Amino acid sequence: MAKILVTGGLGFIGSHTVVELQNKGFEVVIIDDLSNSSLDILDRIVSITGIQPIFEKLDLKDKLGVQTFFQNHKDIKGVVHFAASKAVGESVNEPLMYYENNLTTLVYMLQEVSQLEDSNFIFSSSCTVYGQADTLPITESAPVKKAESPYGNTKQIGEEIITDVCKVNSDFNAIALRYFNPIGAHKSAKIGELPLGVPQNLVPFITQTAIGLREQLSVFGDDYPTTDGTCVRDYIHVVDLAKAHVVALERLLGAKNESNYETFNLGTGTGSSVLEVIQSFERVSGTKLNYKIANRREGDVIAAYADTKRANEVLGWKSELSLDDAMRTAWNWEQNIRKNS
Ligand code: UD1
Repeated sequence: MAKILVTGGLGFIGSHTVVELQNKGFEVVIIDDLSNSSLDILDRIVSITGIQPIFEKLDLKDKLGVQTFFQNHKDIKGVVHFAASKAVGESVNEPLMYYENNLTTLVYMLQEVSQLEDSNFIFSSSCTVYGQADTLPITESAPVKKAESPYGNTKQIGEEIITDVCKVNSDFNAIALRYFNPIGAHKSAKIGELPLGVPQNLVPFITQTAIGLREQLSVFGDDYPTTDGTCVRDYIHVVDLAKAHVVALERLLGAKNESNYETFNLGTGTGSSVLEVIQSFERVSGTKLNYKIANRREGDVIAAYADTKRANEVLGWKSELSLDDAMRTAWNWEQNIRKNS
């Protein structure tokens, strides 16, 4: 079966994608620098799938290291490139670190992947490229808005870099996947989201509050023009998201794509407010969450949810798991890691 490289394969979305690739019989090679993950995740992947992936600890900023890696793995048939920094606030304070971590490394990867016999590349992009879209749900043809942060900018520029490569190299096949809000965990509760320090994202903050690591969740604003006044997002279960990577890769390998560069929104197509997410958590956990209404957070868009028609029709992919499924698995994971730590 085809050998697939997953960079950032021990991270949140990466680890779930490795599991789904292995479930489909792909031979997986993982590169991770362990900057925001741990080797323990490798064992957890093995305990889910029973298959040991090849693992290489490598910082993709090490150009020579990247070149050497590809010399040793010329038979790679596809690359799923997750490795990147993703904290919006940190990117505002450390822009150069973000441009180096997310773009220099992307260039090094593309230089090597374009030399392979099979140049198939999947890029982790984000709905952040749309900013506050003028119309909802958001289609892939919605205009890309000026990025709110260096992090968001790295996703936009990353897409542009890949587009330019595809333009001059018709043998280079790429898909950019624009994720909405990935949440949840594997049903085994062996892998999930484990942010360093205080979580910036809603769901890990909820589960950490419920388990007693955080005192109280602040709901950032309840005076937005939405049904209950809180912001609306499209929360997608990470396992559904992982499966989308597998079908996107199969599309590249099957060379069924009309164009050698395509973008797809990955979401559920349904928006949920912050209060609806809290209610879902309370429903599945049987606990009351300690939260308060606080001021708006700077930079938050009011509402964003995906039009998933293109992914449904072209990839034949559709999200299957519900918000409750995601909150239940996120909670099981939180309880499981705290129990064992
Ligand atoms: C954030 C990033 C986005 C990135 C995505 C990855 C920002 C501005 N955007 O999206 O670029 O692609 O994560 O998952 O950070 N909320 C609270 N209290 C909290 C935390 C969040 O009320 O303690 C609210 C937010 O106001 C927002 C919703 O929960 O309405 C989701 O927030 P978050 O999980 O941070 O995701 P996004 O901001 O949508």
